[in-house]
Amino acid sequence: MGRAFVYVILGGGVAAGYAALEFTKRGVSQGELCIISEESVAPYERPALSKGFLLPEGIELVLGTRIKSADVRRKTLLTAAGETISYKILIIATGARALKLEEFGVSGSDAENVCYLRDYNDANRILNLMQSCAGGNAVVIGGGYIGMECAASLVINKINVTMVFPEAHCMARLFTPKIASYYEDYYKSKGVQFIKGTVLSSFDIDSNGKVTAVNLRDGSQLPADMVVVGIGIRPNTSLFEGQLTLDKGGIKVNGKLQSSNSSVYAVGDVAAFPVKLFGETRRLEHVDSARKTARHAVAAIMEHEKTGEFDYLPFFYSRIFTMSWQFYGDNSGEVVHFGDFSGSTFGAYWVSKGHLVGSFLEGGTKEEYNALAKATRLKPAIEDLAEMERQGLSFALTV
Ligand code: FDA
Ligand code: NAD
Repeated sequence: MGRAFVYVILGGGVAAGYAALEFTKRGVSQGELCIISEESVAPYERPALSKGFLLPEGIELVLGTRIKSADVRRKTLLTAAGETISYKILIIATGARALKLEEFGVSGSDAENVCYLRDYNDANRILNLMQSCAGGNAVVIGGGYIGMECAASLVINKINVTMVFPEAHCMARLFTPKIASYYEDYYKSKGVQFIKGTVLSSFDIDSNGKVTAVNLRDGSQLPADMVVVGIGIRPNTSLFEGQLTLDKGGIKVNGKLQSSNSSVYAVGDVAAFPVKLFGETRRLEHVDSARKTARHAVAAIMEHEKTGEFDYLPFFYSRIFTMSWQFYGDNSGEVVHFGDFSGSTFGAYWVSKGHLVGSFLEGGTKEEYNALAKATRLKPAIEDLAEMERQGLSFALTV
């Protein structure tokens, strides 16, 4: 028993949605393309967790279906229900899963008021809990993207928020201490409390299975009506371990997004691809790279010879409260801050080996962000950091 397709997209997230759009734009016949997703809904824009589904018509949608094993030699996938689905070309778009507290030796993730945020079901759960917790206390575990964005939503919804994370400042993977301190001060002005440099050690759980308090390793205890956990992700590679080459925790692909098996491509959070600009392989966990790797893979599948190497400028952004920032490139090397850190527009450049490699801007206009992207891609030589600091944003605008 089984079904056969020319193209199979495994995963039903952002990258899957954009790959499907690209296939239909280029023309696939009815029944040629299939998307298999564990989720029960069609691909959607995860950042907004909106209900604007991405999918065009004419595609076989196999929803609510988990693939439990893959055989890249035979070109088959086996569903949890026992059906075999075969392909000529496979696009792996399995994304990532949220890391669980249990992986750090803390139990309690299954309590009814502990939430993670990765998909549509998670978002609905958080919304329901938030509604029942108005005026109550939330503890947010993790100081990364999920922690920062959820903390903002929680206080907007009149919940008292305490953020707990191990680093010295928020968004440690990207922000400098100076940038982080701006956002932390803003969050504090909105009532968010920060407990930094420690992690949770256990939960107090009542007889109904609800967390009532969070115990921290520094010995303190925080009362909690709900807990939101955002402690990072792991790419979903397990189906292909031992069959495809892995790198940076993901599936290694070349500049055409093709894995070590020429019939298998990987896109989105799960793909480790060459970033030409830096001359090295990176795995990015952001929506812009999910969209663009997906489009490029489909172009390479349908017009292999005509399609060049993927040439990507990493781009991350976030919108919190009324603030909004964008980042381009790489945050390595020396940092040059610029602008008004007591106002609403400021930024930073990263200079490595004498060249601009990364840039960050809060509160910019569309033109300013475009200029930042352009300047970062050009990687101009920088001789005088003090002069760059003096020029600030006009440096990017005049490159
Ligand atoms: P994604 O995780 O979207 O999709 C993976 C799909 O594969 C899922 O449908 C999953 O069910 C399916 N799957 C996995 N294993 C399977 C199996 N064995 N069988 C069947 N199906 C399987 N980025 C950004 O740049 N700006 C932003 O503002 C945000 N905001 C944001 C908010 C929230 C709440 C999240 C969780 C994430 C963001 N991101 C973001 C990150 C961005 O959403 C992320 O980079 C993309 O969703 C990655 O897209 P993928 O398609 O690779 O994975
Ligand atoms: P993250 O990697 O951004 O942050 C993880 C945070 O977890 C770290 O900053 C650290 O503070 C904390 N941490 C790690 N181990 C911990 C532990 N044992 N106990 C307590 N805290 C611990 O990951 P995330 O915030 O969970 O985000 C998940 C994914 O979603 C990422 O891939 C992210 O890129 C993506 N995302 C992106 C955006 C955006 O681009 N605007 C928004 C939301 C989510």
